[in-house]
Order: sequence, then structure tokens, then C-alpha cells
Amino acid sequence: MKKNRDKELLAILEVSKVLTASFDLERNLTSAMETLSNLLEMQRGCVYLLDPISKDLRIVAAHGLTREEIKKGKYRIGEGIVGRVIETGSPMFVPNIGEEPKFLNRTKSRPAKQGISFLCIPIELKGEILGVISADRIYSEEHGSVDDDIRVLTIVASLIAQFVGLWKSYQEADKEREELRLQLKERFSIPNLIGESDRFQSVLKAVSKVANTDATVLLLGESGTGKELIARTIHYQSPRAKGPFVAVNCAALPENLLEMELFGAEKGAFTGATERRIGRFERAHGGTIFLDEIGELPLSLQAKLLRVIQEKIFERLGSSKPIHADVRIIAATNRDLHDEVFRGNFREDLYWRLNVVAIMMPPLRERREDIPLLVDYYLKKFNKKYKKSIELSSDAMEILTGYSWPGNIRELANTIERLVIMAERNVIDRIDLPCNMYTEAEVTTSHKRFSPGGSLSHEVESIEKERIIRALKENNYIQSRAARALGITPRQLGYRIKKYGIEVPS
Ligand SMILES: Nc1ncnc2c1ncn2[C@@H]1O[C@H](COP(=O)(O)OP(=O)(O)OP(=O)(O)O)[C@@H](O)[C@H]1O
Ligand SMILES: [Mg+2]
Repeated sequence: MKKNRDKELLAILEVSKVLTASFDLERNLTSAMETLSNLLEMQRGCVYLLDPISKDLRIVAAHGLTREEIKKGKYRIGEGIVGRVIETGSPMFVPNIGEEPKFLNRTKSRPAKQGISFLCIPIELKGEILGVISADRIYSEEHGSVDDDIRVLTIVASLIAQFVGLWKSYQEADKEREELRLQLKERFSIPNLIGESDRFQSVLKAVSKVANTDATVLLLGESGTGKELIARTIHYQSPRAKGPFVAVNCAALPENLLEMELFGAEKGAFTGATERRIGRFERAHGGTIFLDEIGELPLSLQAKLLRVIQEKIFERLGSSKPIHADVRIIAATNRDLHDEVFRGNFREDLYWRLNVVAIMMPPLRERREDIPLLVDYYLKKFNKKYKKSIELSSDAMEILTGYSWPGNIRELANTIERLVIMAERNVIDRIDLPCNMYTEAEVTTSHKRFSPGGSLSHEVESIEKERIIRALKENNYIQSRAARALGITPRQLGYRIKKYGIEVPS
């Protein structure tokens, strides 16, 4: 008696072990049935699962049946004993299957039915029947009782139910992830990038060339020109698309935090490090890391980054164990990196390592023919978002096309969104545009009139400076507000205030 109890406990323990051995449904359930059959001397053990859509029962795992037999073992609810158990949700025991008419013997695996008893137990999770387990057994004096078997199998069935439940939600999450990934791939695809100008088309050509490689890419260009968008496009069109895309803004954190963010930290690496932190490089394993504003990376971290690029290894803070990084690097900056190298702010060796393929994002004012396309694109987008049908007069389009767009596409998108929200009539005319665009158009034409030989970039700069001064005045020198009004970030505004030497009263 005691010996049987021990065997039962051992069987339950072993089954619970094999069920957590992998995430392969058939493999785990087959091992569970094998374990059970071996330890409890059963001739056969089967797990049937119910297909939630067709309501068919299918043998998912079996011990003591051939492949052919497994294939044949299909039942409908209500059919045979297995079907009855599914329907009623209660276990059944057939002492001698030779005398039971309900026993269909579908699998034809029992030529001589005599002497074999059949046990069938439902697999149930939160009131839902997922399937059944069945076992064949020849009972004799020295073996335990049927009640004992039913008890053990009921426990095993509930272990299996937990596992199947987990497995199902994992499958669903996996499917959802795959769908989301496909959506991202579609969203960040070349046809979804707006621009027909030669300058932009050559960017796209470069993108499709580098996407297939693992080459490090350096994206250069003013703010709002689409550097991040291009970085994502390269990732989602590359063989790494199944892996993660991890973006890090190197300007957003102070040096020590940035180091931890990039490379991670071991528990106890410094006071307060109560848990191990996984860094962004580790998270990006198998995918792409996007190092935005790379020009702001402190010199000490530049050395570490160089090592990742050259040797593909790094260590977590507070650890000496090297970690291998299978990561593609895309970096971006709106600074003149070459100039930073010259000033000693950026390591030359790193500069050349990053500069394997450099893609220069043209500012909007250098590809003006794309402005109407972008305006239409964003008009459509925001009309849909705000359920409106706003159009633009050709006069207004002319002003937008002539405007200098210091904040580039981001500024353009913000401007159109604001216009759509604020529009009181269905057509936006030139008087509805922000007054700075309006006046800039005047200034530009008058400049053209009086200084036909002046350089364009100088002209653009003086307009930009004027606009910034005005925005600052209008917003009481609160820089965050002025930046918002201009459609640029406070950082970008700060940069320009310095660049033009604009005085800001404190
Ligand atoms: N070719 C394009 N077609 C459509 N939208 C674009 C295009 N390029 C950029 N955009 C949009 O413009 C906005 C700014 O792009 P993004 O954030 O990639 O610029 P950025 O160069 O990274 O700017 P920053 O330097 O300020 O971070 C985003 O909303 C992006 O979707
Ligand atoms: Mg960016």
C-alpha cells in the first residue's frame, strides 16, 4: 500500500517536471504520458485535446500507440467514451472494455480487448474542458485500486490543464507579436516614405542598399528631417526585422546613467543597485540599436562603444564577464561630427568606424518639390484623425512651399495638424497660416528683389533668427513655449539661440 503511494507521488512529481521542461506542447505531453505509463504500469496513455473551432478531438500525445494509430484517433464530442467524458466533464472507468459497447476502439490498437480496463479523465481549466487523458490498465491483485488511479490521473490532468492554458496564451501572444511585426514592417517601408525629389530618392536608394547588410550606418541631418524614421525603415527592411529595434537618445541622460542604460549593471555594482539591470545593447540582441544624438556621447562612453563595434563585446557595470553583442548599430546626429573630431569632442577612430555608410538627410528647404506632397500627406492624415475634410488654397500652398521650415518635416506635420484643428472653414487660405510664414514670404520676396546675389543659406539663417527672436518675445522668453510655437524641441531652440547669439533676459 505504502509502496503504491510512493509511486503515485513520484509519478506526479515527474510529470510536473517534464511539463516544464520545454515549451513544445507535443514533446512535453508525450514525455508526461511516458513517465506515467512507466511509473504506474499502464499499457497506454493518451492526451486528447479539443480543437476550439472544429470541436474535433485530436490525440496530441500518446504512449504505446504507433503514429498510424495516433492519426486514426479522432473523435467528435459525444462519440465513444472519450467523447462522453468531454460532454459530461466527469471521469469514466470501464472495467473490461471487451464488454462495453460504447468502446469504439477507433485506433484499432487493442486487438484483444479482454482484460483491459480503460480510464478517462477530463482536462479542465477554469470550467472549460480542454480535452481528456485516457489510460489503459490491466488490473490485478497487487496493483492499486481504480480510485487511486483516478485520483492520480485527476491531479495529472490538472497539471496538464495548467500547461496547456499557458501554452495557448503563449501561442496567442506569439501570433499577435507576429502580426504587430508585420504591421511595423509595412509602416516602415520605402513606399510609405514621402518624397520624389532627387535628393530624397538618393536617400531611399542608399536605404535599400544598406538594409540588406549589417553595416554600421551614420545618419546626418538637421532636426526633424526623418533620421529616426529612416533608421526604423532600415531595421524593418533588413534581415534583422524579426529582432528588436532599440532606440537610445544619447543626449537624454547624464553620463553615468547613460552608461548603465547602454551596457546594464550587475546587482551591487554601486550603492542602490538592488537588482541586475539589462542594458540596451543586450536588449537589442539579434536586432538593431539606434544611437540618436551620438554627437553628445561622452568621451568615456565613446571608448566603450568603439570596443562594441570592433570586438562585439562589452561588460555590464560591476562585472568582468564579457557579453557578446549581436547588434547592428545605426547612429544619428544633427551635429557636424567631423568638426567635433577637430575640436577634440569626438574620437576620430570612432568617427571612422561609424562612418562606414553615411546618409545625409536633406533639409526640407533643399527639396522644396516634396513640400506639397508632404502637405497633402499630412492633410489627409489629420483630416482622417479629426474627422474633417479641410483643403488648402493654392495661395496657401505656395507660401508653405516657399517657407524655410527650420524644424523640417516635424514642423510641417505640427503646422498642418494645428491648421486642421483650428480651421473654421473648409479651405485654408493664406490668411489662416501662421503670421511668421506670411511675413517670411514677404521678406524672402523683398530680399530676392533687393539682393539677387545673396547666398540662400545666409538668407535662410537671418529669417530663422528673426523668427526665433519673435517667438521668444511673444512667449515672454519662456523657451519651452517658444520652441513649441516654432515646432522644434527646446534643445534645438537652445542650440539656435547659442548659434545666433540671441540675448535672452534672465
Ligand atoms: N519622408 C517622410 N515622409 C513622411 N513623414 C516623414 C518623412 N520623414 C520624416 N517624417 C516624419 O517627420 C517627423 C520627424 O522625423 P524624425 O523624428 O525621424 O526626425 P529626426 O531627424 O530624428 O529629428 P530629430 O533630430 O529632431 O530627432 C516624424 O513624425 C516622421 O514620421
Ligand atoms: Mg530623432
